[in-house]
Amino acid sequence: MVQIGAVILAAGKGTRMHSDKPKVLQTLLDEPMLGYVAQALLPLFGSAVWAVIGHGAEQVRAAFPDAPWQYIVQEQQLGTGHALLQALPAVQQAQCQRVLVVNGDTPLIAAPLLQRFMQQAGDADIAFATIELHNPAAYGRVVRHPDGSIAAIVEAKDYDEAVHGSPTGEVNAGVYFIKTELAATLLPQIRCANNSGEYYLTDMVALAVAAGLRVVGVPCGCDSSLFGINSPEELARSEATLRSRIAHYVLDSGVIMHAPESIIIGPYVTIEPGAELWGPLEIYGKSHIARGARVYSHCVLRDSVVHSGAVVKNFSHLEQAVVGECALVGPYARLRPGAVLDEGSHVGNFVELKKTHLGKGAKANHLSYLGDAHIGQGTNIGAGTITCNYDGKNKFVTTIGEHAFIGSNTALVAPVSVGAGALVGAGSVITRDVPEGQLGIARAKQANLPRKIK
Ligand code: UD1
Ligand code: CA
Repeated sequence: MVQIGAVILAAGKGTRMHSDKPKVLQTLLDEPMLGYVAQALLPLFGSAVWAVIGHGAEQVRAAFPDAPWQYIVQEQQLGTGHALLQALPAVQQAQCQRVLVVNGDTPLIAAPLLQRFMQQAGDADIAFATIELHNPAAYGRVVRHPDGSIAAIVEAKDYDEAVHGSPTGEVNAGVYFIKTELAATLLPQIRCANNSGEYYLTDMVALAVAAGLRVVGVPCGCDSSLFGINSPEELARSEATLRSRIAHYVLDSGVIMHAPESIIIGPYVTIEPGAELWGPLEIYGKSHIARGARVYSHCVLRDSVVHSGAVVKNFSHLEQAVVGECALVGPYARLRPGAVLDEGSHVGNFVELKKTHLGKGAKANHLSYLGDAHIGQGTNIGAGTITCNYDGKNKFVTTIGEHAFIGSNTALVAPVSVGAGALVGAGSVITRDVPEGQLGIARAKQANLPRKIK
């Protein structure tokens, strides 16, 4: 069997993005570009995937701490030909006879398209995917001989109609399938005497033609999956394409979506059929929405789970939170990382939870901050309750037992615990534990004095 590897060219700066971030870390639907390209390659190539990085290399590594692909560093970004040359020793060492090369700024690419492309490439020595564009912009122009065979790829900056004829609209998509041994022979022959002063990978095509090798351009129509991203406008366009692609897929799977055009769903989100969503709404990361859950408009969910029958009302923000079955959240709730709501619990308006477990049927309905807390089932947290969990250096835990009642405007100064069935008087500052079943009250006694009238 022929061993095939894949190389992602991702070392460029992305000057046209006018951003400090390396281009491959620009995001679509909150996920960096490089992740998309890698996800398309991993099912086809497993561990034989290399990403060539250079500009902001450390930032790129940090963005994918568990990356199942390998990195090659291109210290100086001298062009795409030079970039592939850096990866070649690793590809050869892994004994890959052929290599699929993909530009890292083509995030809409998908595994089935790549598979089709490789099939159509057949036994060609070098194959590359081409697309038809009304406005070929900065893409490399494909130049064919009168008999239709490939002559060259000429970069936009170097294209001269007098020499190359009028462009046909067929351009290079930046996806190549190459026999490794030929790449090893041809790449070192590439020169940088062009208008960019770069070593163009695309020059390999004319070199291969001159050497009598079989070079094939595989036409892929005007498939937007192959569009490259070089500018903020192209990023916005590809992101819109992806957003609507995902919305259609989710609708089609049986999720009810009101105003689907205003619902943004990240590529790794899972939503069960029978969930109901209202736009505008944003759901990102590895969030999961179960059947029968409802999420209303103007919410933002990131890496959060909403179980069946739960309702997340308008303007709520959830991050790494879990909303249990039939729980109610919002409007205007903020669930921060580690907020876990058990079945049937309620979190109302202007309530913030961080690393806090709210037991079954427990309620915190108004204006509270609950951080580093365990709250037992059936407990009621009165309006304005604050867990004072931070002394400026360390965080401390508050524990409240089952069926307790915390009166309004209580400050619980952690570490502290309130036992099951205990009651805390409104307006208390609780600094000592309240035992099970007792009434804790810690506030100045009211004194009613005769009023002095001047
Ligand atoms: C490239 C192609 C062009 C094609 C287009 C398709 C070349 C010379 N031109 O142009 O024919 O139509 O893609 O989208 O290849 N990179 C490196 N190291 C470098 C330079 C670039 O890794 O030294 C990476 C970039 O990060 C990027 C990819 O290679 O992901 C393509 O580079 P880019 O500068 O975007 O090439 P284009 O001008 O778009
Ligand atoms: Ca590009």
